[in-house]
Amino acid sequence: MQQPVRIAPSILSADFARLGEELRAVDKAGADYVHIDVMDGHFVPNLTIGPGVVKALRPHSKKVFDVHLMIAPVDPYVAAFAEAGADIITVHPEAGPHLHRTIQLIRQHGKKPGVSLNPGTPVAAIANVLTEIEMVLVMSVNPGFGGQAFIPSALDKLKDLRRMIDATGRKIDLSIDGGINADTAHQAVAAGADVLVAGTATFSGGEAAYAGNIRRLRGG
Ligand code: DX5
Ligand code: ZN
Repeated sequence: MQQPVRIAPSILSADFARLGEELRAVDKAGADYVHIDVMDGHFVPNLTIGPGVVKALRPHSKKVFDVHLMIAPVDPYVAAFAEAGADIITVHPEAGPHLHRTIQLIRQHGKKPGVSLNPGTPVAAIANVLTEIEMVLVMSVNPGFGGQAFIPSALDKLKDLRRMIDATGRKIDLSIDGGINADTAHQAVAAGADVLVAGTATFSGGEAAYAGNIRRLRGG
């Protein structure tokens, strides 16, 4: 079943020189999750945040840390992100040869496993692990950068995944990531998404704008 919509600001668009303050600001502005984009310059063409930064940020927020790992190989780093304070750890099926084993590894560290699908990755890639995971993260841009345009075929993917998730009878977050603004947020929720990741749309206009930005993403 589709759950109430939760907003997950991607701190990729925050001011990196003031990350702690930025976290407190979106917390106050009504964010539900904090989405942390981890990139390795290899799986995706950009370099961002490591476990040390996640650990430093942990005392600044009580919200769910939704850590999106765009790194390959991923298994050697799961323990470090778990220990740094991640709550949800999301991986890409292409990041290693044994997706099921990676999911088991995340569970062994007491964290919630998620799997992310690139625009070119079919939903079939997760069909056989759906009963093992807590989040499906649909990429509506090619991973690597904030501020890209929403790829509309993600909407059909959300509809398929909504049916697949509902058929399990389990509560699995269906998250959409990339190019989310008030318009695409509305379309994504209509297609079945219940977590909206938004970088640019959350962190624009300075701190005073964040609450309004988040409210508009919720459709208010
Ligand atoms: C892209 C990241 C996204 C990105 C979203 O690789 O996974 O989380 O920060 O940024 P916007 O909302 O600006 O498209
Ligand atoms: Zn992301």
